[in-house]
Amino acid sequence: MSPYRLSRTLPADATAAALRADVSHGLTCSPKQLPPKWFYDARGSELFERITELPEYYPTRAEREILIERASEIASLTRARTLVELGSGSSAKTRHLIEALLPELAVYVPVDVSESALDQAGNALVVEHPGLAVHALVADFQAGLALPETPGPRLVAFLGGTIGNLLPEERAVFHASVAELLSPGDALLLGTDLVKDEATLVAAYDDAQGVTAAFNKNVLSVLNRELGADFDPADFDHVALWDSEHEWIEMRLRARTELTAKIPALDLAVHFAAGEELRTEVSAKFRWERVRAELAAAELDLRQWWTDSAGRFALSLAVRL
Ligand code: AVJ
Repeated sequence: MSPYRLSRTLPADATAAALRADVSHGLTCSPKQLPPKWFYDARGSELFERITELPEYYPTRAEREILIERASEIASLTRARTLVELGSGSSAKTRHLIEALLPELAVYVPVDVSESALDQAGNALVVEHPGLAVHALVADFQAGLALPETPGPRLVAFLGGTIGNLLPEERAVFHASVAELLSPGDALLLGTDLVKDEATLVAAYDDAQGVTAAFNKNVLSVLNRELGADFDPADFDHVALWDSEHEWIEMRLRARTELTAKIPALDLAVHFAAGEELRTEVSAKFRWERVRAELAAAELDLRQWWTDSAGRFALSLAVRL
């Protein structure tokens, strides 16, 4: 058996159907909204990689600092033989974890909606680490996961602060479905960006070079290509704002003038009033108490809470009761 395998739990046309459903619902409801997962075509993924290197965007660096510092502690606390990573992307930060978990680690299961990212990362890893099996899964972690049979203990990692893209009810569903993948004693490693001053947060989502603005507007190019829509990204302004009540950042696209966009694949014409906004992302920021409570509601017991030296980002290790 080859040490690299890939399985699909999504039928080939599931993504296309989900995009159509999200767009026809999100652009006909009020206020208009789209889920952030549609940012990540090839160009969007490339723009996100550039975001992670911006001076204003601290989360990636902060999380990497914690992972490097705590990898061996995570290994000795979990003794994981299977590492599952949800939303693995390029698996860049996970390397620190994988190296700390070896040689006990038997299987790495990266889960992502992007098959190309999985193939690239998976093939590189099996070359670097003979003896490690990589079983990649093309799947949407919000759509119910079925993992391959792998040896325990299991460690599920969900890094980058991507949990913040989910609304509170979606997070509850997510934690419950992760708990279901775990046996008692198995662990979850969760990355969360933390509540901090508004200026720092807004700058991270509205950088001086405009990379985040381009990333935000890229979702319109995705609709143009995939659904034949005729959005002109230049007709919209990038907006990033802090919602202090919900403690989340919202990204929006604001129509500069009144306009109507056609979406032929959905047989839809979408009207925007001048100044009307389309919400494209929620990125929630956390405090210890909320993380602890949300995990506890899913029988996940928060055992370790590590932050970077500047206290901007946290990694939590929780154990399935
Ligand atoms: C990849 C979801 C963690 O919310 O910070 C970066 C995406 N959006 N800049 C985040 C994002 C705008 C990012 N996550």
